[in-house]
Amino acid sequence: MHVSLPVEAECQLSPELNASKLQEGLNTSRFGRSIVFARRINSTSQMAKELATYGAAEGTVVIAETQTAGHGRHGKKWFSPTGGLWLSVILRPKLEASDAVKLVFLAGLAVTQTLSELYGISAETKWPNDVLVNGRKICGILSEMSTRNGEVKYVIIGVGVNANVNVSQALPNELKKNTTSLQNELGKRVKLEELFKTVIGKMEKLYDIFLEHGSEEILREWKKHAFFVGRKVQITGENEELEGLALDVDLDGALIIQLSSGEVKRIIAGEISLIIPS
Ligand code: BTN
Repeated sequence: MHVSLPVEAECQLSPELNASKLQEGLNTSRFGRSIVFARRINSTSQMAKELATYGAAEGTVVIAETQTAGHGRHGKKWFSPTGGLWLSVILRPKLEASDAVKLVFLAGLAVTQTLSELYGISAETKWPNDVLVNGRKICGILSEMSTRNGEVKYVIIGVGVNANVNVSQALPNELKKNTTSLQNELGKRVKLEELFKTVIGKMEKLYDIFLEHGSEEILREWKKHAFFVGRKVQITGENEELEGLALDVDLDGALIIQLSSGEVKRIIAGEISLIIPS
């Protein structure tokens, strides 16, 4: 099934994303079998949540050309100009909430593998949910969950890839330094439909591995791209700021750091940045 929302009737032919080609040759059994496509939407994750509440099937994808209220972690605004890949997938895993939080890693791994396979780009995973190229953010992932009595009702995985986005023109000044895009890295535009199909295909494959064998294999693969392990990092949490040596990410997805006092700490939420020695 493929539903196009009649959001901007006057611009039905898009130079960016050909909605009818999103499913052509899609190599999945559930992911993307049902697609809701919008040219302009507040947020694909917001729409996915609404659809999930009304019973939309696992694997349903919401994709938009541009988002007017795209958001990231901690309610941060996510700039979503035309040319990016902005999508959200509905999942209904039969998992405890404590396991479902680790689903975020499969999306980062899927994007990292896609960038390597399609464009020969060696991307880095950054705890907990970013993908970087040459130290700059190219993709953000947002995992949101709804639970009842400890059981997961649905998980929405939102993926934003700066694809055909010219960072110096399309993003605000404060983001320019630490952000990149496929267009900026490759010096050319990419086919969004191909990027979409590859990411979605890999997400389904990794999701099936996760459901069958647990998160261990996914985390192991994700860690192979984790550039920050073994480096000094600063962690900004809700209430504190810490500095330490990033030692590992454990099987629960927590970051393990060693403080200068020698104490080893387990961090379950926060943002990290590398400390570059001066
Ligand atoms: C982050 O880096 O904090 C996560 C950013 C996630 C952005 C994506 S774009 C598609 C989906 N819709 C949203 O509103 N957010 C996610």
